[in-house]
Amino acid sequence: MFTRQDALDLDAKDPLAKYRDSFVFTDPDVCYLDGNSLGRLPKATVETINKFLIEGWGTKIVDGWGEWIDKAETTGDLIGRAALGAAAGQTLAMDTTSVNFYRLVRAAISARPGRKTIITDEANFPTDRYIMQGIAEELGLNLVVIPNDLQEHSTGESFSDELVTSEILKPYLNDDVALVTLSVVAYRSGALHNIKELTDLVRASGALMVWDASHAVGAVDMQFDRDGVDLAVGCTYKYGNSGPGSPAWLYVNKRIQAELRMPIQGWFAQRNQFLMGSAFDQIEGMRGFQIASPSIIGLLCIDEGFGMIEDATIAQINAKASKGTDMMIELFDQWLAPLGYELVTPRDSKLRGGHISIYHPDAAQIARGLRDDMNVIPDYRAPNSIRLAISPLPTSYVEVFDGFERIRDYTQSGKYKDLDLSNVKVS
Ligand SMILES: Cc1ncc(COP(=O)(O)O)c(C=O)c1O
Repeated sequence: MFTRQDALDLDAKDPLAKYRDSFVFTDPDVCYLDGNSLGRLPKATVETINKFLIEGWGTKIVDGWGEWIDKAETTGDLIGRAALGAAAGQTLAMDTTSVNFYRLVRAAISARPGRKTIITDEANFPTDRYIMQGIAEELGLNLVVIPNDLQEHSTGESFSDELVTSEILKPYLNDDVALVTLSVVAYRSGALHNIKELTDLVRASGALMVWDASHAVGAVDMQFDRDGVDLAVGCTYKYGNSGPGSPAWLYVNKRIQAELRMPIQGWFAQRNQFLMGSAFDQIEGMRGFQIASPSIIGLLCIDEGFGMIEDATIAQINAKASKGTDMMIELFDQWLAPLGYELVTPRDSKLRGGHISIYHPDAAQIARGLRDDMNVIPDYRAPNSIRLAISPLPTSYVEVFDGFERIRDYTQSGKYKDLDLSNVKVS
């Protein structure tokens, strides 16, 4: 039996416990278990942004660009160093994950001329699937979608957790495949893919691999350089705690930078940008992958969020995500399985990130009722999944414990059965 005292003991021994104090908490009673959707606000961000407004933009006005112009690269390097295992000169912080994803997929396809097949999986995040559909239509390519969506194939044993293994991917690969893309952590089930094994397999077939690391970055100890990752994108607003709509990032391994061209040729990628030359001439290195003016306020938010990750170290953060999700699964077995919930996240902590996913036929009502009546913020994904996360820097073990206890009590109460969800816009 896992007790509240056990959770308090974990907090007492937690080397990351001190970071909780670095975040803004306006309601000490809330159990915020949605850090995999949007992270909390670091106190330092408030100070940094206020200071920037007055001393940066307010004082320097246009002269500030002298020091801000390369910021997509310097903040990108910080993200790479702190969370991706990426040496400098391979990561840019800019735009959105969706836009960066489109760009890298297009660039990768162009770098494999003659190959007409692109591959993703059915359980991948919607924006990735929609963009792949659009690109396939635009370029007349054959889009292959691995059928691993649990909602569609609930009895498919080989996809019990949506994980795409090498054995599953292998039969899809041949010399017509230009590109494969998967998410590092599956957004719904929370399953963690084997980055190195899958990248090696795809590369051996002559294709390129694009990883979407949005649900992994800041929770999983990824080592892109060591594992030979080609291309990757991700956000900064989840475990990166950089704010709603903060700039995303993209990673292009040095090994293939010279082979790739961006589908949008913007002025930030131009050699001698301020000579304003008449013909586009892509500069070498990561600057050649940038399109336009960076959001300096957004990048400063990332500096605070990822500065904290660098300080805490991604290894310690990953260790807490593993321990925290272990605790969640123990509490799931103890309290939630008997109430009709089903666990879809792998039980092996090496096969998951910072969140677990549980199914319940009344998940939509329960998730709403937990917010309204129990001061627990979970994450709901249609049609029947509740996702619960530990964000290792701001979340304590006891916050997770209390949240699970309230989920148990609320489910037992049956109150959710009367909820009317017709006016709910965002879940
Ligand atoms: C895996 C994944 N990819 C892409 C996105 C979309 O990000 P954006 O809105 O920044 O394009 C998200 C958003 O949550 C995501 O989880």
